[in-house]
Amino acid sequence: MSVTVRVPAKVNVQLAVGGARPDGFHDLANVFLAVGLYDEVTATPADELRITCEGPDAGQVPLDRTNLAARAAIALAARHGLAPDVHLHIAKDIPVAGGMAGGSADAAGALLACDTLWGTNAARDELLDICAELGSDVPFSLVGGAALGTGRGERLRALEVGGTFHWVFAVADGGLSTPAVYGEFDRLSEGAGVPEPVASQELLDALAKGDAAALAATVSNDLQPAALSLFPSLTDTLDAGRAAGALAALVSGSGPTTAFLTRDADAAEAVAQALLASGTCRTARVAPSPAPGATVL
Ligand code: C5P
Repeated sequence: MSVTVRVPAKVNVQLAVGGARPDGFHDLANVFLAVGLYDEVTATPADELRITCEGPDAGQVPLDRTNLAARAAIALAARHGLAPDVHLHIAKDIPVAGGMAGGSADAAGALLACDTLWGTNAARDELLDICAELGSDVPFSLVGGAALGTGRGERLRALEVGGTFHWVFAVADGGLSTPAVYGEFDRLSEGAGVPEPVASQELLDALAKGDAAALAATVSNDLQPAALSLFPSLTDTLDAGRAAGALAALVSGSGPTTAFLTRDADAAEAVAQALLASGTCRTARVAPSPAPGATVL
């Protein structure tokens, strides 16, 4: 018997970042939107904890206990007095180290898959607690849809979305480390007062209306200058997408994936083709949003 869970990637349509906290994290006003690019995590009983991974970027995924999916299985097993003897197979379609929460998706997927396989039947709140221990973006990977994340991003309030938004994601050649991008944010903001992060009401209204042009006018990412500082060629990718007619162009989370909001599905295809032809990215993927959270198949 095995259990497969499908989990979406995310883009941050607003990522407002406050100053560094004593614990090293940053307070956020983080508007998450789940997008239709998915990893699938399959849990199968095994003699010991084992991780395997398939997909174009599989070679970059750690297969030991540092993998967030392994840590999710270990955390759930420990709470229920079980041994985490499970084979977790990850079919990876979300870019690795790309700012789209692929590792967080695998953690949420492994947690739900193991909970189902082992019959531990954890309450939603227990699953969310474990997710928050594993990483700031993991709770959102479980719930999907759209949500405002506060605290370090782990405290979620579900948001209304009034329509489908069409995105293109340009995958860069290489990755960025999230702590390094936050470190660069601190360096760039040194000496300047960092305001309290606050969600934009205009942006929440645009989401609720399903109005792509209004959303494009309000998207923002405070980590973008830091990501561009560490990965300057992303400026060319953003320019190429804007020139191809994207309504908005921004770095996804801590990058280096760049995200392009478009008017409709046809415009998304056209922007993806133009981005590929521009030679400023490794690949370009089209995806609609919002997408459902972790789902047992
Ligand atoms: O929570 P997660 O493990 O995904 O965070 C990875 C790193 O990103 C943290 O160690 C920290 O350096 C940075 N981070 C942060 N503030 C947040 C979320 C992440 O500084 N709100």
